[in-house]
Amino acid sequence: NPIETPDIDAAKCDEVTSGIRDYPNAVRPRLCRPPKTGKAIKNYELPKDGAVRMRWAAHDNSDEKTYKENVEKYKLGIHLMRELDKTNPKHPHSFSQQAKIHCAYCNGGYTQVGFPEKILQIHNSWLFFPFHRWYLYFYERIIGKLIGDDTFALPYWNWDNPPGMTIPEIFIPEKDDSADFKNKNPIFDKYRDASHLPQVVNLFFNPSSQPKGSEQDRKRQISCNLGMVYRDLISNATDWEGFCGGKYAAGDGEPVGLQGSVEGNSHTAVHVWVGDPTQPNGEDMANFYSAGYDPLFYVHHANVDRMWKLWKDLKKDYPGHEEPTDKDWLDASYLFYDENEELVRVYNKDCVNLEDLKYDYAKEDTPWLKSRP
Ligand code: C2O
Repeated sequence: NPIETPDIDAAKCDEVTSGIRDYPNAVRPRLCRPPKTGKAIKNYELPKDGAVRMRWAAHDNSDEKTYKENVEKYKLGIHLMRELDKTNPKHPHSFSQQAKIHCAYCNGGYTQVGFPEKILQIHNSWLFFPFHRWYLYFYERIIGKLIGDDTFALPYWNWDNPPGMTIPEIFIPEKDDSADFKNKNPIFDKYRDASHLPQVVNLFFNPSSQPKGSEQDRKRQISCNLGMVYRDLISNATDWEGFCGGKYAAGDGEPVGLQGSVEGNSHTAVHVWVGDPTQPNGEDMANFYSAGYDPLFYVHHANVDRMWKLWKDLKKDYPGHEEPTDKDWLDASYLFYDENEELVRVYNKDCVNLEDLKYDYAKEDTPWLKSRP
């Protein structure tokens, strides 16, 4: 049977139980259960109309005017989420409530319905892509609602393309740190590895392989990265199991070693590379419990989600590029608050086609296609 939507009122996210879920000196809150609202759960209905939200590469300012507008809207949205934290932190659209979603689904906040001794874990298996797709889907629509723009689209961190391989500049703090939010950067997060800010990202898990400094090192890192993306989308991704991850169904123990290619390689490498190793638990990005507190998380995951689309688009040449058809995958479901504060249940099967979800990704170069290692 498929993994079911959790019983959120029974969440145990304030109880630190086993070793891996115990984070001494955590710099972020450990209580991640969503607030009780007494709302009934509805099955989510896909939008029937509305414009397609076009997610944009966070570094690409070639169309200066549109880029500026997009960045302003995005920053305003995050600013308003942070403001909600001050006025109404239990509001499901607040910055911290959105961040806590990740903690709850990933750090043992929920157990599986019917299996109280089994943790619900949406990482390390075939739930990884669909869960994060839905998470970003609502996050994007919530920002659109907050800023009053139903065409709002998230940026994506285009780390598979050389001009996008550093942390996008918009995330770097502006020099003027005055009280006016426009001069403060709402998408800056202080818990990042500062030494990595100007560098080319390292899509390999091992942080000690990070080359330093010279132009030659930079070039070498770029070509290694392209090779990694090729592996993640092509060589190691010939079927759903390789790409999406292994089967995980109701009653199963926490998945171990079942990650798909992207999840296990480039995706995790970026998390660890961004997190601050001087924080007690790699906050924010290098730990499930805290990752959602860095706005870069959602922008990184937009690119991860884009990898799913690009993998699927390669189907004409690679016929194995198809999602699972097993009912236990199709009918797995999660709970989110939508942009209207309704508590909705969503299914994997409904998130397979971006046309149904009314968003898409603006095109950028994909040089990794020609970078077979
Ligand atoms: Cu839920 Cu990038 O992890």
